[in-house]
Amino acid sequence: MTDLGFDGKVAIITGAGGGLGRQHALMMARRGALIVVNDLGGSVDGTGSDKGAAQLVVEEIQAAGGEAVANTDSVATPEGGAAIVQTAVDTFGKVDIVINNAGILRDKSFHNMGSDLFDPVLDVHLRGAFNVTQPAWKLMRDQGYGRIVSTSSAAGIFGNFGQANYGAAKMGLVGFTNVLAVEGAKYNIKANAIAPLALTRMTEDLLGALGDKLRPELVSPLVTYLSHESCESSGRVYSVGGGRVAEVFIAETPGYTNTADLTPEDLAAHWDQVTDQTGYKVPPSIAEETAMFLDALK
Ligand code: NAI
Repeated sequence: MTDLGFDGKVAIITGAGGGLGRQHALMMARRGALIVVNDLGGSVDGTGSDKGAAQLVVEEIQAAGGEAVANTDSVATPEGGAAIVQTAVDTFGKVDIVINNAGILRDKSFHNMGSDLFDPVLDVHLRGAFNVTQPAWKLMRDQGYGRIVSTSSAAGIFGNFGQANYGAAKMGLVGFTNVLAVEGAKYNIKANAIAPLALTRMTEDLLGALGDKLRPELVSPLVTYLSHESCESSGRVYSVGGGRVAEVFIAETPGYTNTADLTPEDLAAHWDQVTDQTGYKVPPSIAEETAMFLDALK
């Protein structure tokens, strides 16, 4: 099989000063993509900043013969997002690929979670994806081409203790991806999300010995493929880590229908039928889900 090259395609990768984003940047740059390495360079909880992190990755890319530019704006504000996209346009003239990867953690059980912990996490992960992707979207629409990969998490898709903020933001990115896939279809813009698992500073206290199997560079092949023009996937979510890639999907059961007389008691009596996963379907958009619905009412 021929190598998947990027031949001058321009990719913005947020939070690429370390961890997963750095690996995505190195892999795509080796394959000819021109990279905007964005990173604010803060700590895992999002405090502080270090303007050097992004520049170091740029130097690594350049030393390997690739092309990249550093940007140290925060994704968490609309001004930061616009400046990141502007860096791509000023340096490379366009934006073909946005990889929403920047992230922070502020874990706390919900009982103790105030808006001081909730809001900053939404600002970086969810609003951050909006702040960068929205100005890039306009350029992608005009050029009739775009690839967007957003970083979700199993913590949101499946649930995890102490992460109501992070889980909400990460599942929000699945909804974001679904809608961009629908709206982008006629402009050849494809949007997908990943739920990675890898040893980075974010997970080093959690993974223990398992960490050896979960090198972050094993997530980048999926991100690179989803960013490639040959990839037809859109509106999908993939679980990825340690060399395994699998699709995660949201499905609907056939359900129970009683158009004549649905009561709470009737529901209680048929609850097994409501939740029976036999014959589930995976609607690709609200149109197909509504069609399923209407079919059941016939
Ligand atoms: P990391 O902490 O090494 O990388 C996150 C990067 O985002 C850091 O370099 C940080 O400086 C940057 N960043 C934070 N706030 C920013 C802002 N406002 N603007 C620009 N950059 C900012 O951690 P890791 O693991 O590489 O995380 C990458 C993404 O993957 C995150 O979105 C994370 O939530 C997600 N993820 C990681 C998992 C893992 O197993 N490592 C599991 C599930 C999701």
